[in-house]
Amino acid sequence: MFGKKPPAISPDDVRAVLDQIIDPEAGKGLVEAGFVKDVSVEGQKVRIGLTLPTPAWASRPELATKIPEQVAAAGDKLKVDIAWGSDVLRSRPEAAGEQNLVPGARNLILFASGKGGVGKSTVASNVAAALAQMGANVGLLDADVYGPSIPTMLGTHERPEVSGQKLVPVVSHGMKLMSIGFIVPPTEAMVWRGPMLAGALTQFMRDVEWGDLDYLIMDLPPGTGDVQLTLAQNVKVSGAVLVSTPQDVALADVRRGKAMFDKVGIQTLGVVENMAYFDCNNCGTRHNIFNSGGASRLADELGVPVVGEVPLETSTREAADQGRPEVLAHPDSSAAKAFNGIARTLATMLAKKAMSQPKQKASGLKIIQ
Ligand SMILES: Nc1ncnc2c1ncn2[C@@H]1O[C@H](COP(=O)(O)OP(=O)(O)OP(=O)(O)O)[C@@H](O)[C@H]1O
Ligand SMILES: [Mg+2]
Repeated sequence: MFGKKPPAISPDDVRAVLDQIIDPEAGKGLVEAGFVKDVSVEGQKVRIGLTLPTPAWASRPELATKIPEQVAAAGDKLKVDIAWGSDVLRSRPEAAGEQNLVPGARNLILFASGKGGVGKSTVASNVAAALAQMGANVGLLDADVYGPSIPTMLGTHERPEVSGQKLVPVVSHGMKLMSIGFIVPPTEAMVWRGPMLAGALTQFMRDVEWGDLDYLIMDLPPGTGDVQLTLAQNVKVSGAVLVSTPQDVALADVRRGKAMFDKVGIQTLGVVENMAYFDCNNCGTRHNIFNSGGASRLADELGVPVVGEVPLETSTREAADQGRPEVLAHPDSSAAKAFNGIARTLATMLAKKAMSQPKQKASGLKIIQ
């Protein structure tokens, strides 16, 4: 008679409500999509355990508002609590006998461009920081041996420690980092020849204690086919993202960049249009300094999507110079929103690819919040 109050709703009823919520990315109800791991009800408290294919799942923000709203509406004064988890799968499953120097990295994304100075390092470091902030295990490898930017952009010049035969990545802003800039003085690597460059890159993959990573992001040097070839032969690349500014001369380089990746069998996942526009605070107008819409025209021509448009912002450059990615320094800026969007788009694209393949061994559920 004085026992506990009966639950205000049954777990099965909660599941029924959850399956009515169609996840726009999976195209299915949340239960059918396999996202609902457990549901428990105690009095008016409903606890839902969700496991997403990536912490950066594109519809996660939408689900975070929709689920509490719809479940709460199914009963009287329900309090809804969501425990978010993720289980990131490999977008390219292991094949026997294939060389893979970083077996612990489940997804490996390259940021490249034919032309220098278009913002590869800025985009790569911000996308990496965005993924880490959303709860993923992230590594960032500076593959630019001649002009490493990662130590400056991530604000650390720590020397990596050696453990056994391996280098331990430097940890900064929640990511594992490796760069030639941590090891040799800036002028030294400049005189290395091609084979030494390939050797350094191979070492950064094979001889670094990367451990278990959801995403390994690689910031490539401009141009050259050597790096692309070394990567194609030694690791399982999920895909490449070409960074470009919108003017015609830069776009010609995107065409070349895609052709180079095609040649070595690496898929181009998309194009990022950087410095796409400038919103002037003084006059209140948008200026398309480097032209507009070029990347989307080109993306159509090449059959690859535009995965993001990043504005030209003084704060982005300042944050990079001060060693903090824009997504952490100014999370509400338009550029930060664009970087977060790119992170979500790429992670969701790779997760869908992984989900469409034969079932893999789970990577191990991780609680992300
Ligand atoms: N969206 C942006 N807004 C403002 N400044 C930017 C933006 N993107 C990049 N920059 C600035 O432009 C400069 C070049 O960017 P970055 O080093 O990322 O280019 P990169 O393509 O990696 O160059 P490299 O070819 O030399 O490796 C940097 O000073 C960076 O801070
Ligand atoms: Mg760079």
